Amino acid sequence: MSEYSKRASELRAQIERHNREYFVEDAPVIPDADYDALVRELRALEAEHPEVRVEGSVSEGVGAPAAPTFSPVVHVERMLSLDNVFDADELRAWSDRVARGLGLDAASVAFAVEPKIDGLALAITYVDGVYVQAATRGDGRVGEDVTRNVRTIRGMPLSIGAAGRIEVRGEVFLANEDFERLNAAQRERGEREFANPRNAAAGSLRQKDPRVSASRPLSFLAYQLVGDESAYATYDETIRQLSDWGFLTAAQLVVVTGVEEMVARSSLFETHRHDLGYQIDGAVIKVNDLAQRRVLGTTSRAPRWAIARKFAPEERSTRLLAIEVSIGRTGRATPYAVLEPVSVAGSTVALATLHNEDQVRLKDVRPGDLVIVRKAGDVIPEVVARIPEDGVARGAQWHFPTACPECGGALVRREGESDTYCVNPACPAQLMQQVIHFASRGALDIEGLGEQRVAQLLRERLITDVADLFRLRAEDLAPLEGFGEISAAALVAGIDAARAQPLSRVLVGLGIRHVGPVAARALAGALRTYDALASADLDVLEAVEGVGPVIAASIYRYVREPEVIERVARLREAGFSLAEPEPERSATSQALAGRAVVVTGALEGYTREEAEAAVVAAGGTSPGSVSKKTYCVVVGESPGASKLARARELGVPLVAGEDFEYLLTMGVWRNIVA
Ligand code: IVH
Repeated sequence: MSEYSKRASELRAQIERHNREYFVEDAPVIPDADYDALVRELRALEAEHPEVRVEGSVSEGVGAPAAPTFSPVVHVERMLSLDNVFDADELRAWSDRVARGLGLDAASVAFAVEPKIDGLALAITYVDGVYVQAATRGDGRVGEDVTRNVRTIRGMPLSIGAAGRIEVRGEVFLANEDFERLNAAQRERGEREFANPRNAAAGSLRQKDPRVSASRPLSFLAYQLVGDESAYATYDETIRQLSDWGFLTAAQLVVVTGVEEMVARSSLFETHRHDLGYQIDGAVIKVNDLAQRRVLGTTSRAPRWAIARKFAPEERSTRLLAIEVSIGRTGRATPYAVLEPVSVAGSTVALATLHNEDQVRLKDVRPGDLVIVRKAGDVIPEVVARIPEDGVARGAQWHFPTACPECGGALVRREGESDTYCVNPACPAQLMQQVIHFASRGALDIEGLGEQRVAQLLRERLITDVADLFRLRAEDLAPLEGFGEISAAALVAGIDAARAQPLSRVLVGLGIRHVGPVAARALAGALRTYDALASADLDVLEAVEGVGPVIAASIYRYVREPEVIERVARLREAGFSLAEPEPERSATSQALAGRAVVVTGALEGYTREEAEAAVVAAGGTSPGSVSKKTYCVVVGESPGASKLARARELGVPLVAGEDFEYLLTMGVWRNIVA
């Protein structure tokens, strides 16, 4: 057997195993990105070396055979999958192929762009308007009969106003909130938690007992009407029909003409992938004209008229090189993984948190293991799980150190707690993290005082406490390495400006356990001065809206510690007022904090000025023109053509006027209009 045939059969065996784990057992072991890479490698090998091809290769297949637990359902029309592209250039190449297939210029083809939901495909059949059957995709030809399990799904009407046989296809999924709730309930019952919403949805649907499915908050989103298409000319018409029948459909669907706009729209979904309330792993782009679709046709596994643009994966596999422990500002010792660097969600990850001792034990990760790392949105990268490897000897089990790696002091884990602490108050690592936190953006926001400068000031013994920062003079700093007269003066000015910060920011900066920015603002807003806070009894603290017994007790203890009393006295001496100014306006919600929202056209119930004032009251800004930084444009009656054109050009979302209130309260857009 040639080297190529050997590799091809190895790849086929691996892909088959992962198919089984993903489609049959609803418990995939490797990240989707790894799976995609295996399939791509096999396809490339089969294309370059035709002699390695075999009849019925997994590279041709769709899904996995139906499980015997369910009765088989033969699909009247095969349920295909989608081909994938992984970047904008591959997407352009696909649209060129489409245009060539149609004998048209790519600039004149209308594309529908919508989110690719990470769930599982389902086909629902109605006869004379009555729900009769639901089936999973299976291998595309034969699926599993889940009719009884589907009856109770949200977004799935039991009767529709249509004669004859109608088949509706779409995706079953769990919304993020529903997934969190389901896992919380599993935890409470002492049952296994699901790794992600997709597995939870699949496991919930494919239950032997339909009552179990009924108890799970599944949703269904329709994206295809199969059968009598002659009644419709375009895809968006069919989607409107599905929505009229009562199906949930993608509210964000837009139809665009031209390649660049289509590419920009699909990128927009990537930017906002965490704003939709459910998991998406890509954007789907479809030719909108149904007659054009018929011209293009399908391959054995996927239509030529549609493509999935997969986003940068948020989960990747890599090698765990070592486990180390870092010390935070409260002394908390957090174990973290040192990894072979890997690109996750668009950035390189070399370190990932392991949270605490129990998590390391539970995940049973050891140096040398292959692991899955995850980085989603603004969340810190973490090690999710290890990938078992057959026949590979593993390293020794890791044990939590007993001494602080920074100061050599004792590491202590108290009974009933999951975290371990370095209990030496003079630990230099704690001090360094305290100063970094004090200067950070959410706290005193001292410009120019980053991690390296803090380390330098500590090393040079210019500071031993945050209050020492306010005694620094430009002459002390200028001779230091990396400083000059200008940068020394700039840092001193930055520190100087911090003296004017309100009490709430000082409270954040002090790093009191359990007191984050929200609690700090609530406390400072209610009590107004540090003195009032320091002399408040527990019941006074607990009476503050948003402050519970844990936060109250933490503050109560904190303000009575001798080092704290001294630190606060020194801050006062440095010029801090330690008071909270009166709020300028009584904004209740800051949902749009930091976001620029442009309003164009008339919105029902608002004058132009009122609409802009409402955006500002919600913490946003309302500039008069659209720029790259604009979060979205709200489109009312008779909108301005130039604003619309500019937004389209820059890929800024256009939001329906009816959704203005939603935007003000939720801080995110929901429906985009074409
Ligand atoms: S259209 C023949 N649209 O992704 C066209 N599929 O990776 C069939 N999916 O099998 C699919 N969101 O299960 C389509 N908006 C969407 C989708 C979507 C998720 C799933 C579907 C498909 C799989 C391919």
